[in-house]
Amino acid sequence: MATLLAWILTRTKSLFWRSLWNCCQGAKICANVERKRNTPVKMDEHDGKQFLATVRSADYAHPGEAESIDLVFAMVPAQPSWRVLDVGCGRGGTADYVSCHGWGCVTGVDIDREAVEYARSKYPNLEFAVCDMQSVGDQYPEQFDLIYLFNVFYAACDKNAAMMSFRRAAKQTGLLGIFDYVMYKTDRGLPSVFLDQKPATSDELTEWMNGSSWKLIEHINLDDKYIEWYRNFLTRFEDPALGKIYPPQVIADVRSKYAQLLDSLEQGILGGAFLLFSAR
Ligand SMILES: C[S@@+](CC[C@H](N)C(=O)[O-])C[C@H]1O[C@@H](n2cnc3c(N)ncnc32)[C@H](O)[C@@H]1O
Repeated sequence: MATLLAWILTRTKSLFWRSLWNCCQGAKICANVERKRNTPVKMDEHDGKQFLATVRSADYAHPGEAESIDLVFAMVPAQPSWRVLDVGCGRGGTADYVSCHGWGCVTGVDIDREAVEYARSKYPNLEFAVCDMQSVGDQYPEQFDLIYLFNVFYAACDKNAAMMSFRRAAKQTGLLGIFDYVMYKTDRGLPSVFLDQKPATSDELTEWMNGSSWKLIEHINLDDKYIEWYRNFLTRFEDPALGKIYPPQVIADVRSKYAQLLDSLEQGILGGAFLLFSAR
């Protein structure tokens, strides 16, 4: 009887402790999920790109989405037979758009492995690889008729080295298109969305271009378009569909970063441009 009582007590005790442990584990998991849901998204990582793609309803992380791609390709005599390199392709939406419009056979590269894996699974007909923009010249020597970047060049640590790398990846008749931010007021702080990255000034672009055997053939000022595109982008944060996926504080955090960016554009600290170069 005593043994039975002892067994029941031990069993009840262990059940009690096990239930308590399970409760604690459950609470920990819930807390982790909640913390993740409420953690601000990092704009240069997978969740940040996913957030932007949701706001834009397509796999883009550049202003103007399809409109800006059309604007750029109206200036480029692209052909279906061309080999085209999308540097910093992100989730692959731009590469897919370019390919679907018959502007060439596109390869996309990005430094972000998760973005490349996503692009591969979403657009299996295209080729994607993990590659730093400074290494494309070594990885793809003299292979491309056209190399383009949509809001990626600002992220280059060594922009001169990147320009030289693009030149090595281009064919002798190759073209290079850079769609990006331009820095006008270097004495002013940059919006937090740039992290440690810094867009080039017009003077820097000219200097690097000369040192890397590219010749500028077109320079389109897009300052007003960037303002229009970012104003439009910010209105999409009010879409109730976004609120069904992300908690209000996460939406508010990202929105404030882009409101800061729009402010810098409106104050003329930053602008936008498209530059087209031909190989020398
Ligand atoms: C603002 S997103 C633009 C993505 C894409 N071009 C688009 O328009 O949707 C910048 C992209 O550049 C990539 N990137 C940043 N530094 C890079 C580097 N050194 N080499 C290659 N890609 C880079 C990031 O991982 C990110 O996917």
